[in-house]
Amino acid sequence: MLFQYSQPSTVIFGCGAISVLGEKIKELGCKKAMCVYDEGTEKAGIAAKALDSIRSAGVEVVGWSGVIPDPTVDVVNKGGDFAKANGVDCLVGVGGGSSLDTAKAISVLLTMPGKAEDYVLAHPIFVDTKTPVFLVPTTAGTGSEITKVAIISRPELNAKWSVFVNTNYAIVDPELTLTLPKSQTASTGLDALSHAMEAMTGINWNPHSDLVGEAAIKKIANNLVTAYNEPSNLEARTEMALAANFAGLAFNDPITHVGHSAADALSCRFHTAHGYNCAIALPPAMKLVAPAVPEKMRVIAAAMNIPLTGNETGEELGTLVADSIRKLMRSVEIKPLKAMGFAREDVLALAPDVVSNHLASYCPVKVTEEVARNLLAEMYDDYQ
Ligand SMILES: [Fe+2]
Repeated sequence: MLFQYSQPSTVIFGCGAISVLGEKIKELGCKKAMCVYDEGTEKAGIAAKALDSIRSAGVEVVGWSGVIPDPTVDVVNKGGDFAKANGVDCLVGVGGGSSLDTAKAISVLLTMPGKAEDYVLAHPIFVDTKTPVFLVPTTAGTGSEITKVAIISRPELNAKWSVFVNTNYAIVDPELTLTLPKSQTASTGLDALSHAMEAMTGINWNPHSDLVGEAAIKKIANNLVTAYNEPSNLEARTEMALAANFAGLAFNDPITHVGHSAADALSCRFHTAHGYNCAIALPPAMKLVAPAVPEKMRVIAAAMNIPLTGNETGEELGTLVADSIRKLMRSVEIKPLKAMGFAREDVLALAPDVVSNHLASYCPVKVTEEVARNLLAEMYDDYQ
């Protein structure tokens, strides 16, 4: 068996880590940085911390607050124009996955000619980007700080596609997550859980993704509810920040599978948050794949603190894991699709989109339209 795993970039982790951002940029010889973030990150004062750290190191910096949720190729093109007009030689993404992915995608435009739509493709390519990219997450979820992938929306095609790039440093400071609203703590934490579980059960798994994926699941099972109920609990926030980073490492090579293809379909149709969509899709996705990967499901079940006899079938393990995820979702007040106001037939109509998403091809079970319809039905019916 051949397997592949990568170490995408260096991680600097810990409370106060943002203070070393500027020094690290200076070490790489960069002269002018561009910080990429959204208005929420700016209002929370977190963008200012990044800008201060860079200025304190004597490096020139410009801020750009043009990021929106589910960033589009237009947003990336605007950011690219701003970067070129300002002559920047370093990009710093500060925020949730949308900001980090936008910074990564802008780096493509500083290396290559053309527009973002030339590189954000249904079957993603790797672009050997030259501009250093620093990533500072403010959520404990996406793991984008440690993956090569940037996920960008192509609204004209009703799709979310990707491009792979080089990144240099992940600066993970758990203190930056202390002000995260409760609903985002919940949805981003469950996004991280889905990264770990889908990476471990996809066809491109590797021993490294299993190792860090299992560690991530344990940390999320033991800390998400505390981080949700006690937002200022720094120990739980630190464990969740590490869990999200481990989960990002876990899926960097195997990528995700049908849970995320269903999540992307929801995102394009209903514009609900990525983490919410991943949470809703995860229980049926695990139930679907469990008979194909029973030993993986046993490891996942144990990591979720489910008592096991050792005699459970793959199918039984899938049901146990799906139930435990739903219990966790209820504990952090994830709303059912029905309660969000979506009609069952509109959800089931997404089946072709689930099948056509390239992520579905990494699922250990063939995702036909019937399989996708059943999965969407379970997402709607089995979590009320
Ligand atoms: Fe995700």
